[in-house]
Amino acid sequence: MRVVFVGPPGAGKGTQAARMAERFSVRHASTGDIFRRAAAQGSELGRTVKQYLDSGTLVPDELTSRVVEEMVVACEQSYILDGYPRTLQQGQDLEAMLDERGQSLDAVLYFDVPDDVAVERLTGRLVCSRCGANYHRTFMPPRRDGLCDGCDGPLSVRSDSSEEVVRERLAQYREKTLPLVQFYEDKGLLARIDASTPPDEVARRTETVLSETAFAGPDRENPSGRD
Ligand code: AP5
Repeated sequence: MRVVFVGPPGAGKGTQAARMAERFSVRHASTGDIFRRAAAQGSELGRTVKQYLDSGTLVPDELTSRVVEEMVVACEQSYILDGYPRTLQQGQDLEAMLDERGQSLDAVLYFDVPDDVAVERLTGRLVCSRCGANYHRTFMPPRRDGLCDGCDGPLSVRSDSSEEVVRERLAQYREKTLPLVQFYEDKGLLARIDASTPPDEVARRTETVLSETAFAGPDRENPSGRD
């Protein structure tokens, strides 16, 4: 299975990618997580990307595509790419990487939510500093205040969660990622998912679409995944 999860910040891509990676036993590769880890470690990559993460702007295409090729495409057969590609150039880079290996994408899942839902989700998000698990103060609260259900790690707020930075991320999404959504629609790879419903409902829909499309390959009869 080689699939891409695309959508605005706060759509729930990371939440669903983690669940589906476990469900289908495939790697969950998030460029946001890769960059945040590098920034926390203070590596050369981390020092380069930190300014972009903090301001909510995109890391340059050339660097992002190189990281994805080295860390994911070259070493894995099956994966969910969460948050990559997110520009037309990155979409073309990924296509070239896969072509080189005689591979292709099975599906692109587009998680769609209105801006006000995205802002509410992102400004209330809590993340485990130890294992990266995601929570929300209201919608997906942890069982114990400030502690991860899974590993007891401390929960914190991501540095790009202020409303000002979230608005910038949404603007970047509209300008740079929406043309990519059209690119995949034109290729017949796009399956649209209403991500504004509760997490379990989004998960059910996502699992159905993945079962119907990702295992059938791009020549399936209903590539849009719509009912
Ligand atoms: P990244 O980490 O990829 O952030 P993003 O795409 O902006 O997405 P988020 O992680 O904020 O949201 P999500 O859709 O994954 O939602 P989540 O599941 O977390 O990127 C961060 C930065 O890295 C970028 O700004 C850029 O600088 C850089 N970067 C990354 N990739 C790049 C690339 N390819 N090119 C260039 N730069 C790149 O959920 C959000 C919240 O909502 C959580 O609290 C969750 O608990 C809650 N929630 C989830 N689902 C639901 C639901 N159905 N109902 C209610 N609440 C829900």
